[in-house]
Amino acid sequence: MKNKKTFYVTTPIYYINSRPTIGSAYTTIAADIIARWNRLSLTDTFFLTGLDENSSKTVKAAKEKGYQDIQKYADDMAKEWIDVWKKLNIDYDGFIRTTSQKHKKIAQDFFTKSYKKGDIYFGDYEGLYCYGCEEFKRETDLVKGLCPYHQTEPSKVKEKNYFFKLSKYTKKLLSLVNKRDFIMPKNRRNEIITFVKSGLNDISISRPNNGWGIEVPFDKSQNLWVWFDALYNYKSGVDKKYWKGTVIHLVGKDIQKFHAVTWPAMLLSTGESLPTTIFSHGFFTVNGQKISKSLGNAIDPTYFANKYGVDTLRFYLIREIPFGQDGDFSEESLKARHNNELANDLGNLVSRVLTLVDNNFKNGLKKSPLDKKLISKLNIKNIDSHMQKLELQQALNETWKFINECNKHINDEKPWELKGKELEKHLYTLTESVRVIAILVSPFMPEASEKINKQLNVKSGKLKDCKLGLMKGYKIKKGEILFRKIEQEEPPKNSVELKEEIGFEDFDFRVAEIKGVKDHPNADKLYILLLDVGKENADDVQIISGIKDYYEKQDLIGKKIILLKNLKKAVIRGVESQGMLLAVSDGKKLSLLTAPKSRNGERIFIDLREKAKNVVEIKDFERLNLLSKNGKIIYTNKYLRTEKEEVVLDKKMKDNLKVS
Ligand code: MSP
Repeated sequence: MKNKKTFYVTTPIYYINSRPTIGSAYTTIAADIIARWNRLSLTDTFFLTGLDENSSKTVKAAKEKGYQDIQKYADDMAKEWIDVWKKLNIDYDGFIRTTSQKHKKIAQDFFTKSYKKGDIYFGDYEGLYCYGCEEFKRETDLVKGLCPYHQTEPSKVKEKNYFFKLSKYTKKLLSLVNKRDFIMPKNRRNEIITFVKSGLNDISISRPNNGWGIEVPFDKSQNLWVWFDALYNYKSGVDKKYWKGTVIHLVGKDIQKFHAVTWPAMLLSTGESLPTTIFSHGFFTVNGQKISKSLGNAIDPTYFANKYGVDTLRFYLIREIPFGQDGDFSEESLKARHNNELANDLGNLVSRVLTLVDNNFKNGLKKSPLDKKLISKLNIKNIDSHMQKLELQQALNETWKFINECNKHINDEKPWELKGKELEKHLYTLTESVRVIAILVSPFMPEASEKINKQLNVKSGKLKDCKLGLMKGYKIKKGEILFRKIEQEEPPKNSVELKEEIGFEDFDFRVAEIKGVKDHPNADKLYILLLDVGKENADDVQIISGIKDYYEKQDLIGKKIILLKNLKKAVIRGVESQGMLLAVSDGKKLSLLTAPKSRNGERIFIDLREKAKNVVEIKDFERLNLLSKNGKIIYTNKYLRTEKEEVVLDKKMKDNLKVS
């Protein structure tokens, strides 16, 4: 791919019904590496990522997590995504959210433009819709009647929609997708050519307005189909000038059709220029298993970054899987690559060279003639050309070949046996090599690269500085080890399983109104309470509670208390209890936790609302440190609350009493 003046790379914008998974981290890390490489070449680069927030999945997820304010949910999720990208050292130039006013306006303007051009019309639609893909499916797209990506049966939908005349662009698209660099890699291009050749139908591009999304500008009863809205992010998130240069969209193979067919047709319709390349990377499995949010084994990229280091995760993902092909992620092979290629190959090279320089040239290593044999092994052009072709793995492989040549050179030349000029020549060549290696690995492992620069006592370099023999000399500052070896853990654990501690969000605390109170037939101190837990729960919930000494029956009726709803059911003296209420006691007095102004069934939260576990046990609850403070309840310094109010105690109690 020839570089024009500017370079613009994008990731798909991600749905916010979950946090980042290792799958979305993969695309984003790859885009970050590509952007960083182009910045190294001093190209004016823009890297855009962001979130696809207008999907019906957002509404569903927000409701499941107890949010009433969907925008608040979107804002909370956006914070989560941004935090994860920060942790993974993602250096984006723009972060687009499709609920932003700017995006909405631009998407609507494009829609109107296409409409005026005569490319959009109103009609009836009857079809099979997959909410996972947010797409109408043809019978032939399904496998045994199910969506192959989500393993769900699409819903039959009959509605009036706006349509986009995709069919009109068939010929133009066919010549476009046949262009060599437009769809990469090649096998993906062939899939799309076959798809376009099979004939394109017009597509439905609006859905009935459900109160969430972008309205069709001239018809408020309809919203833009979420893909039609989402694809415009590549325009709304960036300055126009970046569309004049190289434009690369990185996508997963499951969504390449939208990018290689729908998107160019939308751009042709409004007379915009087209992207340079749609690059589809493969899918990867984790320990041989498909990653899927809905299948429940999605894994958290920050877990690996925290455990092994961000650089190790970034390096591993690119080195393990040829970019563009499917692959497998496993913690075992991540550890092996960390130990062999990072700790041994790169780490040892840096430490051996710096130790030799430190031992022999404390006062400075002078520029000397280079060792011709070693420098002939470095081919920057080759590495750069792999990067331009988005062959990220090959670029790393080439760099590693050179790292290993340097290690071999040390073994062969045995500099510790040399002295004077001869020693200086080898060490200068090797130190220069380490400096260049630090530049070459910097897009992949920014932290390690910085650490090497610090020890060499040099500023971080650009691609133009990847010439051996550039430095006048070195005054090094030998420092810490780059990569520590990972010791083998004794009992081999299931590596995908995240050993998570049970936390606040696992508990399903709800506002519940007391509807009825009865004495327990077999116990003096117990009541049987009947609770209304909101419309979503048609049946009342029955619980047994030991508050008889503290509350009269008539004082309890109508009270909005807090129920732990997902507690394992128990039979207490012959009567079933389907949860427990929350209270604090100082031994003499007992106070219930209440939320008098809140809706029955509303979830209690502290900040973000995650899905609760199906069932928790009483011993889990006993470990949860909920404490009284100022007449309210705190968990890790945050007050428990509903949408409307903070949870309060209905009697005055002292601070720091544990909720039980
Ligand atoms: N919102 C749409 C994209 C709109 S772009 C205008 C979407 N979002 S997504 O969150 O579901 O997926 C985003 C990307 O993550 C896709 O490119 C998808 O291919 C990728 N991946 C999801 N799981 C993956 C793997 N297991 N492996 C590699 N990539 C994965 O689709």
